[in-house]
Amino acid sequence: MSFIDFQQVHKTYPLGKTEVHALRGISLQVDEGDFVTISGPSGSGKSTILNMIGCIDTPSQGDVIIDGVATSSLNDQQITHLRHQKLGFIFQNFNLIPVLSVYENVEFPLLLGAGKNDPYASWSAQEKRQWVQHLLQEVGLGDYATRKPAELSGGQRQRVAIARALATKPVLVLADEPTANLDSKTGDQIITLMRDMNQSLGTTFVFSSHDPQVLDVADHVVKIIDGQVDADYRTCTL
Ligand SMILES: Nc1ncnc2c1ncn2[C@@H]1O[C@H](COP(=O)(O)OP(=O)(O)O)[C@@H](O)[C@H]1O
Ligand SMILES: [Mg+2]
Repeated sequence: MSFIDFQQVHKTYPLGKTEVHALRGISLQVDEGDFVTISGPSGSGKSTILNMIGCIDTPSQGDVIIDGVATSSLNDQQITHLRHQKLGFIFQNFNLIPVLSVYENVEFPLLLGAGKNDPYASWSAQEKRQWVQHLLQEVGLGDYATRKPAELSGGQRQRVAIARALATKPVLVLADEPTANLDSKTGDQIITLMRDMNQSLGTTFVFSSHDPQVLDVADHVVKIIDGQVDADYRTCTL
């Protein structure tokens, strides 16, 4: 069974007296350990897809099944658990906490009241410290632990965000246009780093990009056009 399974997912948003049909019957699957790019022009529906995987939004029609459960059947508490236990997030504008150091930003998710089923609930303070330090090494920021985000370049900030997203050992990391605010060389380095972390930790990654030139290292590229999976791609990549 796939970790993510979209079954004929539609999404409409009300817009004044009309509605916007953002997704028009999306079916796709992502398996644990996959590295998947959602590509497509601005407005095609990429963020809507990622928001549904992140349980920020639900389908108007069809099912989004994550880890065997339709997200529309979960209550708020179950959604919070799913997000804490299984998902990590990387944002276009990094979303680091400016007053915290690099180390503290990565440590932060581990301090957010672990539930008893969270993988990190039983870690000692020392285990947490070693894991955070290990992640900082892995993203190439071992020497930057005490810096503040304002003292880093955009690429370095996104490296911190990648380490932070991985801190709780999620099954899946979601990244909505993680390279949109970076120059193309730095953006390629960030995608390569996510790919390295996917391979070394086995973490599933799903990220979106509107850049047709985005570094092609993905297992699957799901191309979205006007809220649908582009037929030319569907046959060769899924
Ligand atoms: N909350 C919303 N209300 C109304 N329309 C929306 C909303 N969110 C997205 N849309 C519309 O849905 C379509 C897909 O948007 P989005 O998923 O953000 O595309 P992308 O991320 O590929 O740029 C667009 O036409 C957008 O304007
Ligand atoms: Mg978007």
